Formats: sequence, structure tokens, C-alpha cells
Amino acid sequence: MESHQHIMINRRTFVHGSAAASALALAAPMSAGFARSDSALRLVAKPGSAHLLEPGQPQTPIWGYNGLVPGPTLRVPQGQEFDVELINKLPQPTTVHWHGIRIINAMDGVAGLTQPPVQHGDSFNYRFAPPDAGTYWYHPHYRTWEQLARGLHGALIVDEAKPPEVDQDLVMIFDDWRIGTKGKIDDASFESMHDISHAGRLGNILTLNGKFTQDFSVLSGQRLRLRLINASNARVMGVSFDGHDPLVVALDGQPVDRPFAPARNTILLAPAQRADLILDCTEEPGTKSEIVAHAGRERLTAGWLVYDEKRRQRQNVLADFPILQPNPMPTDIDLDNAAPIDLVMSGGARSAFRSAEYKGQELGIRELVRKHKKAWAFNGTVGFPDKPLAVLETGKTAIVRMINKTAWPHAMHFHGHHVREISHSGREPQRFWRDTVFMQPSETVTIAFKAHNPGKWMLHCHMLGHQRGGMSTWYEVV
Ligand code: C2O
Ligand code: CU
Repeated sequence: MESHQHIMINRRTFVHGSAAASALALAAPMSAGFARSDSALRLVAKPGSAHLLEPGQPQTPIWGYNGLVPGPTLRVPQGQEFDVELINKLPQPTTVHWHGIRIINAMDGVAGLTQPPVQHGDSFNYRFAPPDAGTYWYHPHYRTWEQLARGLHGALIVDEAKPPEVDQDLVMIFDDWRIGTKGKIDDASFESMHDISHAGRLGNILTLNGKFTQDFSVLSGQRLRLRLINASNARVMGVSFDGHDPLVVALDGQPVDRPFAPARNTILLAPAQRADLILDCTEEPGTKSEIVAHAGRERLTAGWLVYDEKRRQRQNVLADFPILQPNPMPTDIDLDNAAPIDLVMSGGARSAFRSAEYKGQELGIRELVRKHKKAWAFNGTVGFPDKPLAVLETGKTAIVRMINKTAWPHAMHFHGHHVREISHSGREPQRFWRDTVFMQPSETVTIAFKAHNPGKWMLHCHMLGHQRGGMSTWYEVV
């Protein structure tokens, strides 16, 4: 019983010399996977296999876009229309959700809310012009807790007309996997009530860009733009770069007002969150430095910055930080005339949760758990309700007070809009525009946004077992 609760990410860091012995080839430039937007793109969701484990260990059967984990990195210029055909070759229906994009509602990819699920053998055309530059990602929005965990996700990079000058622009997708015997995904745990009602389905293997460890070839003196994405189901992680002092220039796609150095040089990423960093390669030629993922007290080697013997000729001026231009997102929130919305989060293990409404009926916790595998509620209702949490008129500011009455952290994701904290119990609010807001147990976080994007938008916890277990609702902008 206890052991199940303590599945940890593999302690590979402590295996002496494992990294050196792995003899990984240097990472192929990510551009190998880049798809240009001038031709219509095709994403085939299908089974495949990936080498997620250490060299010498078996391959893992996965589901991936074009059979790959992660799926191809898609790049599109800001504001340019982009056309993607999804072909479903999975044994289940699926959709694609473009996480963090202020997209037109019909393209948001939420099965049952914005489109019918795409059946096996069918296809669907997604066409939209991403309004904001930055680092986004895509994944299914049908049985997400299973499909994402099987490997269906990839980066969507929206390029600024004038990107800051850097020597390399690198995508780093962190994921954690629960691998069982013979290298297979532990799929019995997708429906584990323990995971659903606790911290979600945590993995035992961490990958960076689908690899057990991933090397990145750099030159001393180079300036890098790193696009970090946490694609895990439930794992909150910190990422640091030994010996380096990166600056955060954007979060969840949106540029920050002023670049800043994260506390302890570690970037905290809750599930679904992203960060854009500027990192100057300040180490000596011929050295290598560790890319570390921190999960709780675990310290894992995710990969390495491998310094070439050569040096980059022109040295960067360290003070000359590129600052990203703000996106054309409405930031003029009107707190005085706002619509106040309360969202009380309850349920989960170790809580006083006794009953909740599910599909129009008040049910006791036993029945919710045993019959429906539900354990969480928003405002006393287990998701997904027929009625929206709120109906907002276009132009109206919404203030959502999220009250976490549970014993667990949550990663609250808003579709359709980015939101900004205006208060955060016990500390200063984080004045960033985000699509996924991380909350600790018992915290109350109040966010605001200007409703400007019409349609039906989901609001859910991105710890996907929690979403599966009832933490999901929706709001409508009319
Ligand atoms: Cu990243 Cu509702 O999703
Ligand atoms: Cu949650």
C-alpha cells in the first residue's frame, strides 16, 4: 500500500557513470522535426515505439503523432493561418487541443464541447491563425489522462516576426512515464483510484525529448533560447542547468514584463506549464554540464549541455538581454466592474468530502468512487457539468477566486484566455499572464482576465487524474 504511494522517478543520477556509459549521440537538431507551415501538415495519431529507457533496455510501445514521442515540433509565424490534418489511427477516438493558443473556439479540440471526437479511421482539419507568439503545445482532449500518458503530445512554436537574436532555439519537453515490466507502459494505472484521488499518476521514468537522457551540443559563448514544456500527467518539477544562470523571458507563451532569474536558478513547471529561457553558455570548451530535473527531493539527470572544443567567436554581452515584444492580448482588466466567480475545489484523499452532485444527482463519496471513479468537485459538482461555471459577455473582466479546500496541489488550466493572479493567499501574487496556474494545498488564488474570446472554454486541473476524477468545468463567453 505504502510502496505504491512512493513510486519515484528512477534514481539514475546515483548510478555511477551511467551518463558517461550511455554514449548517446549528440541530439539531432530539433529542426529535423520542424514542419513548415507553408505546406499543409498532417498529424497521424498512431501506435509506435520509442526508446525511453536506458540503452540496452527494451523499447516502449507508445501512441504518438506520426508515431513519434514527442510528436513533430510544429512552427508557424505569428498570425499566419495554419492548417493541420489530424488522422486518427488509434484504437480510440481522439482530438487535438492546441494548449495555450487563444484560438477560435471551434478549433480548440475539446471532445464533446467544441467538436465531436474523431473516430478511428477518420480525420479532422484544424485551421487557425495563432495570435500570440511563444511556446505552446498540442495534445489530445479525449481521455487525455490516457492518451497524453501514452505519448501523444508535441511542441507548437509560434515565431515572432523579429525573434530575439540567439545562436540556438531549443525545445525541451520533459515527461514522466510510468513504465511497468518489459518496458511497457503501466496501463492498469490509468484508472487507478489511488492515483486519481491523490497526486495523480506519477511516473517512474523521466524523459527529455523522449530520451532517457538527451544531450545538446553547444559552443562556449553561445546564447540559447530554451523552450521548456512539462508534458507530464501529474509531475511538478523544477529544472536547472548546472553552472548556468538562465533568465525567464516568457511563461506559458506570454512574455514577462521583465526577464528574471528564477529562485535557486530553478524553473518550476507544473504539468502543462512552459517557460522560455535565455541561457548564455558560460562554461569552458570541452566541458559538459548537467540538465537537472528536480522532483520533490529527487535530483535527476535529464540531459547534458555538451560543450564543443571550439569557442564561439563573438562573445555575447551578458547585460544585453533580449526582451520579447508583448503579444496582442487584451491586458486591460477592469477590476471595478468585473464579474466575480467563486470556484471551490474539494475532494481527494485526506479531505472531509462526503458527497457531491454528479450528473444531476447528489451522490455519496463511496458511490462516486466505486461506481464512477470520481473523487473531486468544483463548487460541489463533479465535472463535467451541463451548465457552465459562468457566462461572460465579451469585454467583461472576470475575477475567479479559486479556493483549494483539498490537501493536494493543482494546476488550473483555462482554455481560450490567459489569466493573471491578483491575489495569492500567503504571498505576493505572481503578475504573469498564464494559462495554467499552480496552487498549493489550502491556498486561495484569485485571477482575473478580460473575456474577449467567444465560445465554450474548459477550465480544469491539468493533473490529468484529477481532471478524470471530476476537476473539470467550463465557462462561456458570449
Ligand atoms: Cu492542455 Cu484542457 O488542456
Ligand atoms: Cu488537480
